[in-house]
Amino acid sequence: MDNWRFELARLKRQGMLRSLRVVDGGQGAVVQVNGQDVLLLCSNNYLGIANHPALVEKMVAATRQYGAGSGASRLISGTMPAHVALEERIATFKGTEAALLFNSGYAANIGILQGLFGPDDVIFSDQLNHASIIDGCRLARARTLVYPHCDHVALAEIMEREKSHRKGRWLIVTDGVFSMDGDVAPLTELCDLKDRFDALLMVDDAHGTGVSGKNGRGTGEALGCLERIDLHMGTLGKALGCAGAYLAADRVIIDTLINRSRSFIFSTSLPAGVPAAASAALDLVDSEEGRNLRQKLAENRTLFAGLLQDGGMDLLGSTTQIVPILTRDPDPTMQMTERLLEMGVFLQGVRPPTVGTGLCRLRATVMASHSAVELTDAVGKILDVYREYAG
Ligand SMILES: Cc1ncc(COP(=O)(O)O)c(C=O)c1O
Repeated sequence: MDNWRFELARLKRQGMLRSLRVVDGGQGAVVQVNGQDVLLLCSNNYLGIANHPALVEKMVAATRQYGAGSGASRLISGTMPAHVALEERIATFKGTEAALLFNSGYAANIGILQGLFGPDDVIFSDQLNHASIIDGCRLARARTLVYPHCDHVALAEIMEREKSHRKGRWLIVTDGVFSMDGDVAPLTELCDLKDRFDALLMVDDAHGTGVSGKNGRGTGEALGCLERIDLHMGTLGKALGCAGAYLAADRVIIDTLINRSRSFIFSTSLPAGVPAAASAALDLVDSEEGRNLRQKLAENRTLFAGLLQDGGMDLLGSTTQIVPILTRDPDPTMQMTERLLEMGVFLQGVRPPTVGTGLCRLRATVMASHSAVELTDAVGKILDVYREYAG
């Protein structure tokens, strides 16, 4: 016990101690924290549909019919019509032969990488990939070569060097939209590389699915290379407003995962309400309303990021709805987070180990449900607080 107490005390001294904050209200533009109304600027509910009646009604109806729990893992008795219907819907959405649900994006990434790759294989992984990809590479026990962030030229050099002693399969794995920097992977160039070196490409589009591309198919659609991606991982808990995740890919890949992926095999499946609601979310993404929400989100992002840049903020190359504001050191970052919360603006300070030393930031995320007035007001407060604590 004492060791853990010392460790927590050390984290506290270093300004690195994490703790939980209770958020009351339904992930709308405004929620309550500590009994006070605050503008929610740190939710991944990008399209603002987590509390959309179409999703909630489907979730309630499926819950009434099938119950609150699924009772078992998918291979035992936990596969229900809603799971299968959603998997078919996702495969159509991404243009693949099949798809498989996982209980979360974290479970998906560790389960996909562990289930498909092994010690003879090589995984080429972007330096800023999500923690779940890093952990998946470890679980796969594949040789993992980390390439500099988004640097496809450096990656080509690494692959060229590795070529002469190749044994097993090769995989390039990358986030589509990077979760902490809000920038976008060079997917077309990565597709060229995977063709040139006979590798596979896996894209974790947790933050692109539903948002990027004309039809919300994700970063691959936005960059015109959707059908060249081999493994489409995405989450249902961010822009799609539900919970869980999926892999869309060839049938043989999906069948392999059903037989080998430990996070899929050894875990109780999502309750029926979740896949039922996620199918409704995909219908919404495909509708006129979905197109309008994507348009509104893009306008909100342009306004918010533009005002911050006009105010001299370094947004670390973000081009998407994830807008990091560089603050560098942990202490001022967390002081700014608290001060902004008191002023009615709720965003999160992000510190190591989530980001590198000296790269602390306020990570803001824009939603379609924000109004221009709310965003403009928030930027004013962010700039004031930044000048007070970090300027
Ligand atoms: C890029 C990326 N992949 C995977 C995940 C994990 O998804 P989930 O929250 O559904 O576990 C996240 C979550 O933040 C993410 O940002």
